[in-house]
Amino acid sequence: MKFFIDTANLEQIKEAQALGVLDGVTTNPSLMAKEGITGKDNILKHYVAICNIVDGDVSAEVIATDFEGMVREGEALADLHPQIVVKLPMIADGIKACKYFTDKGIRVNMTLVFSAGQALLAAKAGATYVSPFIGRLDDISTDGLNLITEIRLIYDNYGYETEILAASVRHTMHIIDCAKLGADVMTGPLSAIMGLLKHPLTDIGLAQFLADYKKGN
Ligand code: E4P
Repeated sequence: MKFFIDTANLEQIKEAQALGVLDGVTTNPSLMAKEGITGKDNILKHYVAICNIVDGDVSAEVIATDFEGMVREGEALADLHPQIVVKLPMIADGIKACKYFTDKGIRVNMTLVFSAGQALLAAKAGATYVSPFIGRLDDISTDGLNLITEIRLIYDNYGYETEILAASVRHTMHIIDCAKLGADVMTGPLSAIMGLLKHPLTDIGLAQFLADYKKGN
C-alpha cells in the first residue's frame, strides 16, 4: 500500500519523507490556503518545492471547471515537474479532460469521488488514481469504507489499472481498514501516519529492555 501525505505543509512533508515510508503527496486548494500559499505563481512554486522534497507523485489540482480551462491549467502543472499528477474534479468536463490528458501520457488523479459510478467513469477515462473521500462520507453518516469495497470489486472485475487512492483519511483505523480492503494508496495527515506507530506495550517493553540492560552494565 502506498502512503501519501495530504498536506501542503513543507515541514510535515519533510518529517514524513524522513521516516522513509512516504510515496507521495496530495494537495488541494484548501490545503494550500491553510498554509497561506496564495496567488498563481506562489502556488506553482510551492508545488515545485514539494516535488523537490519527495521522490513520488505529487497531486496538483486545477481550479478551472471547464474543459479548456482544465486543459490549460493541467498542462502548465504537468510541465512544472515530472512528479506532478494533474488533479481534476469529478464533473463531466473533468472526465473529458482526464481522457485528454491520459491520451497524451499525462497522469491524472480524479478527485471529489463519492460513488462507485463516478469511480467507474474515472477508470474508463484512464485515470491513474481515483480519490474516494471516505472521511467526508463518514461525516454525513454514510459508510466511506463501503465505497472502497465497491470500487475494489468493480476494478477487479474488469482489470482496471486505475489505483484506488483512499482520500479524506482522518485517523489510523481508516488506514488499517483501507489496507484490509485493498486500497492501493491512502492519503492522510501526518498525525494518522505517525499514529500507526503507537502501542503502549512497545513503550513498556522498550523501557524494560533498557532497564534490564542497565542492570548488567
Ligand atoms: C485528497 O486528495 C483530498 O483533497 C483530501 O484527502 C480531503 O480531505 P478532507 O476531507 O479531510 O478535507
